[in-house]
Amino acid sequence: MINPLRGMKDLIFEDSQKYVHIVTTAIKIAKNYGYSYIETPILEETALFKRSVGESSDIVGKEMYQFIDKGDNDVCMRPEGTAGIVRAFISNKLDRQDTVNRFYYYGPMFRYERPQKGRLRSFHQFGCESFGEASVYEDFTIVSMISDIFDALGIRYNLEINSLGDSNCMPAYREKLIGFLESKKESLCEDCNRRIATNPIRVLDCKNEHCRTILQDAPKLINNLCDTCKSDLDRLCQLLNENKIAYTINTNLVRGLDYYNKSAFEFVSTEVGAQSAIAGGGRYDKLVAFLGGRSTPAIGFAIGIERIMDLVQLPEKPREGLYLGALDERALSSLLQIAKDKRGEQRVHLEYEKKSLKSHLKNADKMGYLKACIIGEDELKNNTIWVKNLENKEEQNFPIEKF
Ligand code: HAM
Repeated sequence: MINPLRGMKDLIFEDSQKYVHIVTTAIKIAKNYGYSYIETPILEETALFKRSVGESSDIVGKEMYQFIDKGDNDVCMRPEGTAGIVRAFISNKLDRQDTVNRFYYYGPMFRYERPQKGRLRSFHQFGCESFGEASVYEDFTIVSMISDIFDALGIRYNLEINSLGDSNCMPAYREKLIGFLESKKESLCEDCNRRIATNPIRVLDCKNEHCRTILQDAPKLINNLCDTCKSDLDRLCQLLNENKIAYTINTNLVRGLDYYNKSAFEFVSTEVGAQSAIAGGGRYDKLVAFLGGRSTPAIGFAIGIERIMDLVQLPEKPREGLYLGALDERALSSLLQIAKDKRGEQRVHLEYEKKSLKSHLKNADKMGYLKACIIGEDELKNNTIWVKNLENKEEQNFPIEKF
């Protein structure tokens, strides 16, 4: 027997229904916010992820599904959606237009991580990316859209925000932080020591208890922001307050991908265990230019669908559709015709097996159909069909041509 790969699972039974429910709920809201659908290939050149997600990130350093294809190309299964969408934005010359472009997407992502609850190697995201809008109102709108999606799905969350600064304030802060980290080098863990040289900001995110204590005294980016970044963060907080979206500022929130600047945020749940981040995102104003396009401000987010599956309740399904059954095999050709006509407008089950009326009704009830439509010997003779509404129990006979 061949089993699925470690950290990969089928979306089947209730999970597949929840997946569809989450995605359709999110799509409806994203469309109302003016987003349109984009689908990019799962496989891209490895260089795309190395340059955007960043060589020093865990994703690129340890977790990529990377291989050489038959044409000797170095390719990678996407670990996230943003890089491919920025590539598509540039490939399709949208960076040459002066309009705002907003896209939503969903589908599988691949990271070779150590599997545990809420952490898979093949998982699904729903995400949005907005290009061409530098205003902090867009940052607020994106956060507000995610909170609408979680509200619609009945999911409670805590929102954490931070500013990662921009090219004005980040370089000076980086130097200051490196100075602090160098002075504590001996006491910090191996991972932190490696990151001092490659990506010092990520040190702030270290999960090691001992490092965390030391890092409490590290200089905070929030105290070193330039005027623009500071006023944008203040404005974002003000808009969240005015709109009653609760948040906390987490000065150690740095995100695990390198492309962010200014607003960064994570939605966390206290109900899902150790892997508590249920969505994350932020601004990435430099990425389009960095990947060779014309400089375009951008912001986006992604929700981890598997992380919220256990929190989502499926809405109760109302009875719907027609169950067609024969008491006499000769009725099947009429029922086939009816099924073909009715399937244009509703769900139809045609039972091929001749059964008793009682077992047809039981079957229809179990399958959640609203109406059982049966042809027996009398109906065959009179060219009629007997219909029972399984909700209000009403029974009726119709001439077939009027049904
Ligand atoms: P991310 O924080 O790496 O951001 O992933 C977003 C969400 O995907 C996480 O908050 C988590 O819920 C889920 N997730 C990540 N890894 C796994 C895993 N191994 N198993 C299950 N769920 C997982 C991004 O991917 C960015 N592209 C978000 C973004 C879009 N930023 C700007 N635009």
